[in-house]
Amino acid sequence: DTRRLTAVDIGGRKNGPPIVALTSYHAHTAAIIDPFVDFILVGDSLGMVMHGLETTIPVTLDMMILQGRAVMRGSRRALVVVDMPFGSYEESPAAAFRSAARIMKETGCGAVKLEGGVRMAETVRFLAERGIPVMGHVGLTPQSINTMGGFRVQGKSQESAAQVIADAQAIAAAGAFSMVVEGVIEPVARQLTASVDVPTIGIGASADCDGQILVLEDMLGLSPKVPKFVKKYGSLGGMIEEAVSAYAEEVRARTFPAAENVYQMPAKKAG
Ligand code: KIV
Ligand code: NA
Repeated sequence: DTRRLTAVDIGGRKNGPPIVALTSYHAHTAAIIDPFVDFILVGDSLGMVMHGLETTIPVTLDMMILQGRAVMRGSRRALVVVDMPFGSYEESPAAAFRSAARIMKETGCGAVKLEGGVRMAETVRFLAERGIPVMGHVGLTPQSINTMGGFRVQGKSQESAAQVIADAQAIAAAGAFSMVVEGVIEPVARQLTASVDVPTIGIGASADCDGQILVLEDMLGLSPKVPKFVKKYGSLGGMIEEAVSAYAEEVRARTFPAAENVYQMPAKKAG
């Protein structure tokens, strides 16, 4: 079965096997991860990972659409979810619909993701009722870094724990098919997961979430610095250094290109 997974498939996995997700922003990495994941998130983390920005705030709708198209071309089985960037949806449900419709039409992706709980519930409902599957994102929401006062783990106080659970419940009730739970202390992430009927996707949250997501470059060991919750499954940064230093040495020694790496005049046919 080579049918692409849908938001409905993912939304139905509350009591199924854990949902596996990673980010990708490119065709080639999307193709490599596609057989192993249930969904690929084209995250607005691309602003930091691809462009060296300090936050996700400057990321534009055009940037998300361009990389979303690349990931759709590279993948064929996983659901592709594209992040709605800061400024493209918060103003009103109608503004959110216009942005989300552009993402869906111009990328062909199967769902969008937006940050926020109680305050975004009306918007989630507006989109979901009009044919746009919405993944929520609660807890540490990086687009709100300027009002949160930094990348802060959520749920530490009783007040904060109650807020993040209320946020999750509000967007679940509004029709989000799933939600990312980011940077929430473990017991609160676990309690939150038990309190909503749609799958939760943890990042810096809990093994008891209904799935997990990481930024691909972080888990591959390509990002220069990563938060504590990231487990490095590879060391791509070191591999690139080794390969590039060997290449530089061989170019300087004129041992690359070798005979097998260059073209010669074709040999004359005998007789
Ligand atoms: O932008 C992103 O990569 C994300 C994930 C970390 C969930 O939102
Ligand atoms: Na994001």
